[in-house]
Amino acid sequence: MIPSPRKTRAAVHDGTSTALEIRTVEIAPPGPGTVLVRLGASGVCGSDRHVLDGDWQLPSPTVMGHEGAGTVEAVGAGVEDVAAGDHVILSWFYPCRRCTACLSGRSFVCTGSRSEECLLPDGSTALSDAGTQLFPYLSVGSMSEYTVVPESAAIKVPAEVPFDVASLIGCSIATGYGSVVNDAAVQAGQSAVVVGTGGVGLSIIMALNLVGANPIIAVDLSDDKLEAARSFGATHTLKPGDDLAARVQEITGTGADFAFEAIGRVETIESLPWLITAGGKAVLVGLPPQDAPVSIDALALAETGKSLIGSNYGSTVPGRDFPRLAELYLAGKLPVDRLISNRIKLDDVNEAFDAMRRGERARSVIVF
Ligand code: APR
Ligand code: ZN
Repeated sequence: MIPSPRKTRAAVHDGTSTALEIRTVEIAPPGPGTVLVRLGASGVCGSDRHVLDGDWQLPSPTVMGHEGAGTVEAVGAGVEDVAAGDHVILSWFYPCRRCTACLSGRSFVCTGSRSEECLLPDGSTALSDAGTQLFPYLSVGSMSEYTVVPESAAIKVPAEVPFDVASLIGCSIATGYGSVVNDAAVQAGQSAVVVGTGGVGLSIIMALNLVGANPIIAVDLSDDKLEAARSFGATHTLKPGDDLAARVQEITGTGADFAFEAIGRVETIESLPWLITAGGKAVLVGLPPQDAPVSIDALALAETGKSLIGSNYGSTVPGRDFPRLAELYLAGKLPVDRLISNRIKLDDVNEAFDAMRRGERARSVIVF
């Protein structure tokens, strides 16, 4: 029996500040269909930074973090997929399991999820502070010692996968791998450019390497990031500049088969179609600020048969893909651990965001 209400230390965003406040807040026990998780680790992702920097509007105050893993502490009524003691990776898009998309195996386009509203399926949240409701970011809120998530957002994985690694599988790795395998369907021997090699871009490179893409061209402003890109399998590294398209053409012959954008900047998104060959695919993985339209030369795109596709969370089906990614890690085929540049305490989270704003660090991970 778990005591109620229980307290948890959490990183809270008030909706306006660019910094988080570490507060002790209240957490209710898990209700029907939900799961109480004690966090083992939470990654610090570019999407959290977008929120802090005001790029997207969310319900607030918000308990940040959406890239988490931990141990199931207790389950609510009717929960069957996981039990206390299980190690789970949290999904920041929970399928409703009832809509047409979910019932046809395409849960990544589920229409019944309330993740983006930062709500549990019944419209509530488990977190509050002195009577004020708190919203767990994307219904995860992993920058907290404990959180309550819907059953479909807690995916059991083998306990041998360390929590820091497991947390990254929950966002950057799933996003990167899914964009390459589920969305772009890159085949061995095809060429790819990755623009932006932070946590997400490096995960894309890891997946491109796994499927045998060649060449793999990494583009970033930071020398350290480009060095990391090489270590994950990039065959060429470039700094952004006017001659980027020409350089990519030199390396690939006619342009790359695929180009991935993993920053979320309007200008780099606009440059993507110029990096690919006729019939190639430009894949949008980085998420731009709200209300920031991009302009594309539609005639050039149409005449060359190029496509521009959006990739949201790599079209991940959490229950299928998280265990697969965990197995790939355990088999030594996906070096997720090498993505972790800094293991930090919850209290040091603001420093991690500042480093990210300076373009430093592959991935900081909060370890609880
Ligand atoms: N050209 C090339 N690289 C750039 C540029 C630029 N103009 N501006 C920034 N970068 C690089 C940074 O140096 C950094 O390595 O982009 C990378 C961004 O990485 P992170 O800040 O670590 O962000 P990440 O967590 O990888 O997320 C990237 O994916 O899921 C989305 O919302 C997320 O939009 C964000 C994107
Ligand atoms: Zn993320």
